Amino acid sequence: MNQLTFNNGDTLAAIGLGTWKSAPGEVHRAVTEAVQAGYRHIDCAAIYGNEPEIGQALRGLLEQGIVKREELWITSKLWNTAHRKEDVLPTLKKTLHDLQLDYLDLYLMHWPIALRPDLTTFPEEAEDFVSLDEVPLIETWRAMEAAAEQGLAKHLGVSNFSVKKLQALQEQATRAPEMNQVEMHPLLQQNDLLTFCQQQNIHLTAYSPLGSGDRPERLKKQDDVNLLEEPTIRRIADKHGCSTAQVLIRWAVARGTAVIPKSVNPERIRQNLAAAQVKLAEQDMQQIAKLDRHRRYVDGSTWVMEGNSYTLANLWDE
Ligand code: A2P
Repeated sequence: MNQLTFNNGDTLAAIGLGTWKSAPGEVHRAVTEAVQAGYRHIDCAAIYGNEPEIGQALRGLLEQGIVKREELWITSKLWNTAHRKEDVLPTLKKTLHDLQLDYLDLYLMHWPIALRPDLTTFPEEAEDFVSLDEVPLIETWRAMEAAAEQGLAKHLGVSNFSVKKLQALQEQATRAPEMNQVEMHPLLQQNDLLTFCQQQNIHLTAYSPLGSGDRPERLKKQDDVNLLEEPTIRRIADKHGCSTAQVLIRWAVARGTAVIPKSVNPERIRQNLAAAQVKLAEQDMQQIAKLDRHRRYVDGSTWVMEGNSYTLANLWDE
């Protein structure tokens, strides 16, 4: 249960280290501490702006013999500005250069959203977007398939994809997506997506599993619930003598998903990995099941703008 198995027999440790919001200056230590504590799964992305520093940390760990490359699972993601077929390979090569690696274990399309290739900020106006009619997701995917053929990524997947978009991609793809990384926690349980992915042999990775309290201001709303203080989660944590973060992580693992809690704090990094040892009772799972309220912290509103072709309804297909 603490690892996920792929069709070719490769295995992925269910608990990985998230690096979204881990600032340069902090992430080197976080990755080093995590690998020393036993993490073998590190989740990265070009847009997080910290791959060069993660690369330095990985290089140090590999050179010191603390871990072997084949024991690590490194995921990264193609940013939205690189969806055109000619941009995919150079973008993946840049990520490999930054991470100081020859290959990724998993490369994900970060969002089903295309942005102007020269955009260096988050979008501010409708003209910053490129429609999916102009650069269809399958164009991007085929270029990712070609990069994988060259041995630059062992596995391919997507992120923030709905059932409908996964189905469309499966119909057209040569290599089916093997992973969908989505926001997933007790307030956003995504049971239909979970069932579909289980049926289709697509693994899921839960992002923002602790509620991403350190998310940027633009993603905060007044009535947001603090997941780490949620009363049911607190009660279950007290019963087991563990932290609420550990309950949240263990819940994700118990559902058969991978989960990537972010931390830059050595004590919390170790605590999060130790969540694998927490045992949740069936009754605990039933109580957590009742907390589902379809609440996204990363709600996609960044991608919706007057005059562009994206809406929340067609992003999430809800
Ligand atoms: P820090 O990096 O200082 O540990 P998510 O993974 O949902 O994005 O949540 C990340 C947030 O949760 C960060 O603010 C991180 O802070 C905090 N965090 C990570 N692990 C724990 C933990 N075990 N207990 C409390 N907060 C945690």
